[in-house]
Amino acid sequence: MLVRLPGVYPAQHDSWALVEALKQEALGPDSRVLDLCAGTGIVSVRAAEAGAGQVTAVDLSRRAWATTWMNTRLHGRSVRVVRGDLTEPVRGERFDLVVSNPPYVPAENDRVPVSGIARCWDAGKDGRALLDRICLQVPDVLAAGGVLLLVQSSFSGIEKSQTMLEEQGLRVNIVSRVDIPFGPVLAARRDMLVQRGVIDVGQHCEELVVLRAVK
Ligand SMILES: C[S@@+](CC[C@H](N)C(=O)[O-])C[C@H]1O[C@@H](n2cnc3c(N)ncnc32)[C@H](O)[C@@H]1O
Repeated sequence: MLVRLPGVYPAQHDSWALVEALKQEALGPDSRVLDLCAGTGIVSVRAAEAGAGQVTAVDLSRRAWATTWMNTRLHGRSVRVVRGDLTEPVRGERFDLVVSNPPYVPAENDRVPVSGIARCWDAGKDGRALLDRICLQVPDVLAAGGVLLLVQSSFSGIEKSQTMLEEQGLRVNIVSRVDIPFGPVLAARRDMLVQRGVIDVGQHCEELVVLRAVK
């Protein structure tokens, strides 16, 4: 069971894709895991359940912070829950596994919301406002041999993420692909995405991928 304060992203397709990818990683008492953009904290809970010795969850939202704190305690897991902007609160630390399901939906404009539930998905016109920052910041907090698992949509530049991570010396492959029907947010943006040439007329599915990058 997960509790969730209003305005916090409910765990859904992309959350479960990340949880499934996480299950393939070998975690033990020495594993240090960082969950960036934690939301309900579902991925942190699963990492702790999978045996990770140290789990840190970061989210910018106060409500997500409180929700993650409650869910990790409800599941009897000791997770450090920090409120802040991406890797800023853990600068100087190193992790063996970084997991992230960030906002990645192409929005009407480049203003990234500073509050409200849209902060969970809106990521600028190209959907990369958070992805670009994650691809630049995460290599600095990965230990040697550490792994990043990153979820995103095919509408927000999978190759760009891959290239940015490879340019920093990481080896990247895609470990999961799943087609899901448009939810209400994408359905409402269908015309805009057709006009921009991101989707075809009549398209009603997006592809979600999980990238795995090794330092
Ligand atoms: C798509 S939700 C994912 C939640 C959860 N990880 C899951 O898979 O269900 C994205 C989360 O990113 C958080 N977020 C947005 N901008 C952020 C930032 N700059 N730093 C940290 N978290 C951020 C939002 O508050 C939201 O909880």
